[in-house]
Amino acid sequence: MQLKNDLLLRAARGEKTERTPVWLMRQAGRILPEYRAVRNSVSGFKELAETPELAAEVTIQPVDILGVDAAIIFSDILVVPEAMGLPYEMIEQRGPLFPKTIQSQADVDALRSADAHLELEYVYEAIRITKKNLNGRVPLLGFAGAPWTILAYMVEGHGSKTFSKAKKMLYAEPELAHSLLQKITDTTIKYLKTQIAAGANLVQLFDSWAGILSPAQYQEFSARYIAQICDAITEAPVTIFAKGAFFALSDFAKYNCDVIGLDWNMDATTSRQIIGSGKTLQGNLDPCALYGSFDTIRTETKKMLDAFGPERHIANLGHGVYPDTDPEKVRCFIDAVKEFSSR
Ligand code: CP3
Repeated sequence: MQLKNDLLLRAARGEKTERTPVWLMRQAGRILPEYRAVRNSVSGFKELAETPELAAEVTIQPVDILGVDAAIIFSDILVVPEAMGLPYEMIEQRGPLFPKTIQSQADVDALRSADAHLELEYVYEAIRITKKNLNGRVPLLGFAGAPWTILAYMVEGHGSKTFSKAKKMLYAEPELAHSLLQKITDTTIKYLKTQIAAGANLVQLFDSWAGILSPAQYQEFSARYIAQICDAITEAPVTIFAKGAFFALSDFAKYNCDVIGLDWNMDATTSRQIIGSGKTLQGNLDPCALYGSFDTIRTETKKMLDAFGPERHIANLGHGVYPDTDPEKVRCFIDAVKEFSSR
């Protein structure tokens, strides 16, 4: 189906656009009272994510309520380890927990890989329903965690500031880490291809824990697997968002990806110099800027747009929107992008 608003896809391909497209990482589920209402009608996050009609409903909410230029499918990066045989729980107010973790080669060998993506039919069905109900209004984004970030949760078992158990594996048992990373990579490639076949117009890799690795470790344990995924996904544009990995931008510039996400520690001009003109940049307003006044948000948004310039830019925050952000402030950011970037 022809999209009515394809600004984001055109920007991703490097085509000229009437204005800069805008969406927010974690726009589905964190901030809207309309989400809480749907969420409270079920037992918890997992039931919501695994019920395609409801997942589709909360995916579309930010398009209706906030006016963003893309929807992102409501799911989580942790559905991949679960499909591979490592179930997760989502603990209220705390976050994810893996009752069982990966500690040995036997644990890795026991994981499914070749057909693990078939366990995620509920995601593909949510994508199909969302596409139908969006009716071509905006593109739908699919996503997955980058292999290193997924390994971090599978080994650590839960969130952490340092992910020391996961990093310990990189130093103490690098071969074990590589065998797990390759299995995650193989599953992720099939998962993203099937998301695209179901209707996702672009897919984003979230490497949320990129910034805790040294540049050399990042090369060895993360970037090369991201490169494999980029090479394998030829059916739709790919975005790499590696939080804190400013040191990897020159590598990403050479990968088969279309968009590179920047966090707010990365300067737009410097990043553009490193990456060159061949990729679209996405980002990168500090999510905390949305705690400022409406005037502050408009000023900061204008500064961001001026720094990136009119071409090859998708406006976004530098990481997911924080849960306690006022939706009116989010709308202010979105409206400011639309107003200041019109050309
Ligand atoms: O972007 C979107 O809005 C689409 C949905 C989405 C979710 N998680 C839903 C979710 C996406 C893209 C994610 C990605 C994700 N999940 C990442 C990468 C992006 C990032 O923020 O760095 C990571 C690291 C996770 C793992 C995860 N899931 C954590 C640490 C938590 C707990 C804290 C939190 O973020 O709320 C989750 C839970 C989660 N994932 C919720 C939602 C809506 C909250 C669950 C609830 O409703 O109670």
